Amino acid sequence: MKIALLGGSFDPVHYGHLQMAKEAVQVLKVDEVWFIPAKKTPLKDRILTSDTDRLAMLKIALADFPQFKVNPIEMQREGTSYTIDTLEALHKQYPSYTFYWLIGNDQLEQFDLWKDPDRLVQLAHFVCFDRDGKLVQTKYPIQQFHMEPMPVSSSEIRRGNKLNYLDEEVLRYIYQHRLYVKDFIKERVSPKRFSHSVSVAHLCEEFAKAHGLDTQKAYYIGLFHDVAKNLSKEVMEPWMDCICQENKKYPVAVWHGFVGSEIIKRVFYIHDDQISHAIYHHVLGTSHDPYAMIIFCADKLDPLRGYPVKDSIACVKQDLAKGFEMVQEENRKYLKGKGN
Ligand SMILES: [Fe+2]
Ligand SMILES: [Fe+2]
Repeated sequence: MKIALLGGSFDPVHYGHLQMAKEAVQVLKVDEVWFIPAKKTPLKDRILTSDTDRLAMLKIALADFPQFKVNPIEMQREGTSYTIDTLEALHKQYPSYTFYWLIGNDQLEQFDLWKDPDRLVQLAHFVCFDRDGKLVQTKYPIQQFHMEPMPVSSSEIRRGNKLNYLDEEVLRYIYQHRLYVKDFIKERVSPKRFSHSVSVAHLCEEFAKAHGLDTQKAYYIGLFHDVAKNLSKEVMEPWMDCICQENKKYPVAVWHGFVGSEIIKRVFYIHDDQISHAIYHHVLGTSHDPYAMIIFCADKLDPLRGYPVKDSIACVKQDLAKGFEMVQEENRKYLKGKGN
């Protein structure tokens, strides 16, 4: 058996990883590619997403490729995951197999920093797939092949960019298990707005629970409701022209609801009409859909706003329609007081 090994954090696994595995099958004519998720990566400090979640996402992503397997050998070993330990163990376990270890040219550049590089290249054929067309000078016997560039990285995905480079089911898993999603917002709004968004998300959940609604849906409405809040007028204008030009008559401060309702579809691939609808109406409170009423109330009754909200929160939990009207009325008074 000829086996290509692809190590990494896979936090999360994306199309770039899959492309490298496909390339290995084509170029090296291997029988299988084993994805080896690290327990703890030696050259990075970041705390990884749980083993369970990374493993689950890998299994989902590889499900359609019979030649691609997950090998959890590093996750089963405590401490830092050194490739040398993995290769020694695999050699013992599969003495007749030929192993290829796949790396990218960023890893080739720092190959000197790997533990025991001289022994590593004896245990497996190291193969580098360069993604940017540049050959790296190296003293080690490492073959280099060019691979069509796929401009994506796990870190970009963790920040909520390029989510279209994920398997649809992996993205569903991410949302289901709320992985990275707070960072999607943290990346895009001020620290104060971020705290507000998280706080509103939790209040939305509480309201949904009180009224027998979908708490997960409510959480995401709360978390994403102000995703467009920190965008400038110049950035929002093309979105407004494209989605609801007629709403440009409203003050710019209101636009982030309209723009946010579209951003969650086009940037975050959340295609749920109730979520979009609720975010669209959250500023003006112009919808009686239960989720729209929930976000309108939660936004105005966020405990972080610093005024007494306990009684109003209890009222919304008891009777959503009545609570909604009360919050609307309070909001009207507040805006009138401010001359709006
Ligand atoms: Fe808002
Ligand atoms: Fe808000």
